[in-house]
Amino acid sequence: MVKCVVKLGAPGGSEDAIVVPVYSGEKTSKALQQLSRGQKTAVESSIKRRAFTGARGQALFLFDSGKAGSTVLVGLGSRKTASTETFADAGGRASRAMALHKLKAGAVLTRGVTEDTPAFVRAFCKGFALAQYKYSLTEKAPAAATLKKITAYVDDNHAASVAAARRAEVTAEQVKIVRDMVNAPGNTMTPTILARQARAMCKEHGVHCQVIGKAEMEKKKMGAILAVAKGSVEEPKMIVMHHNRGREDLPMVCLVGKGVTFDSGGISIKPWNGMWEMKGDMAGGALVISTLIAAARLALPIQLVGIVPSVENMPGGIAMKPGDIIHSYSGKTIEVLSTDAEGRLILADALTYAGKHFKPMVTIDYATLTGAVMVALGTRISGVMGNSQNHIDGLIAAGLESGEPTWQLPLDEYFYDKVRGDIADYKNYSGRNGSTITAAALLGKFAGNNPWVHMDIAGTFWNDGGGTPYQAKGATGYGVDLTLSFLEGLIGG
Ligand code: BES
Ligand code: MN
Ligand code: ZN
Repeated sequence: MVKCVVKLGAPGGSEDAIVVPVYSGEKTSKALQQLSRGQKTAVESSIKRRAFTGARGQALFLFDSGKAGSTVLVGLGSRKTASTETFADAGGRASRAMALHKLKAGAVLTRGVTEDTPAFVRAFCKGFALAQYKYSLTEKAPAAATLKKITAYVDDNHAASVAAARRAEVTAEQVKIVRDMVNAPGNTMTPTILARQARAMCKEHGVHCQVIGKAEMEKKKMGAILAVAKGSVEEPKMIVMHHNRGREDLPMVCLVGKGVTFDSGGISIKPWNGMWEMKGDMAGGALVISTLIAAARLALPIQLVGIVPSVENMPGGIAMKPGDIIHSYSGKTIEVLSTDAEGRLILADALTYAGKHFKPMVTIDYATLTGAVMVALGTRISGVMGNSQNHIDGLIAAGLESGEPTWQLPLDEYFYDKVRGDIADYKNYSGRNGSTITAAALLGKFAGNNPWVHMDIAGTFWNDGGGTPYQAKGATGYGVDLTLSFLEGLIGG
């Protein structure tokens, strides 16, 4: 992975290229003062000739002019609309431009970019590191990424920028792990394998880990997760992780993540076309696992619990059938109108587990829950719903800070009414209209009166090719940075 470091002052020539962020409509950048004469002339003439305007998305590589070293100009667009998303994009573009020329180490000038230099360092370095990610299992392994290091040069507030760089580095590494888990095909990512990986990572980083297997689920009467698991030969697992376990002096937050390692739809089987993408239906679970590890690595002073119900949703001979009524762990019954609405079933038992065993100040669940959220919000923005407006607001703010935007959908009594069953307590499908919200409403019934927020990441977990410069095709690793920001906000405020 790419190392992220911070130095005071101006680059002294130890890097292969200097990255200069430039806003559109600003002919002179303060950062230019830090360049050598040769570089400055080259940059100024490129801007003057309008080859480079500073528009968002532009990246111009200016080759080595003698001793001066190479320069990469990256456009930030208008200063007024710049955000952490812009900075991460710029990092990704600069990273790609440098890798194209097989360079090893970059410097980035931060002077004059924003008042909040640490925020720039964090976003830029994250984008810079993640742009080098690629998932490939071809025999001819892709040439190992040559890019090894990015150094941000700052004028002051050194300690805060150092912390920001470290935060970016850990985030990028943990996002990479999520991408690997989500990109992994269903035959190498089963509930058993997911649980084994979680356990190994927990052991390495001192996080408490417990895995509940099928026999124990039967004893506990976790009927919803067991019902979904029935159609597959793969055994279900419920992974329970705990950072800072026993530290009763610290506030507690619970994260729950949907861990369907493959979603065929079950008996309500999906069309063949695009079904392969359902190998990534454990993206919520992967982000919960990796965020717990990140929290441990960053030593966040909080008790963090991660719960990942994991199954494979298959149409085997004894699979649950449409019309079946299942007895959930909570004691409530659910009529299964579609076996493809499996996420809300396994999450129902996981949320019940969270409520029975822990007393968190808030529980957040993450799930690739509905195709409808993609229709509503597209592939850049996740849907947020819940029963606790201040925690929803906290999550929305965290998304702005991390450059992972969210949007709240209205979850009110009208939607809660829609999940009431005709012959059971609840039903798992309430029609196409508002189906992202009715899915959330069913989860809300199992969260009970505990503060709870739900994130539907079905649109954001995957990049079909139109994503940011730091997202290769496939899994995005969405949510790790956002959740860390949320937790930091809780601790800080
Ligand atoms: N895992 C899917 C949702 C999904 C769709 C995730 C596309 C990522 C991309 C979920 O289990 C599902 O099948 N949802 C159904 C629900 C319906 C049957 C109520 C859907 O969205 O069509
Ligand atoms: Mn499904
Ligand atoms: Zn699913």
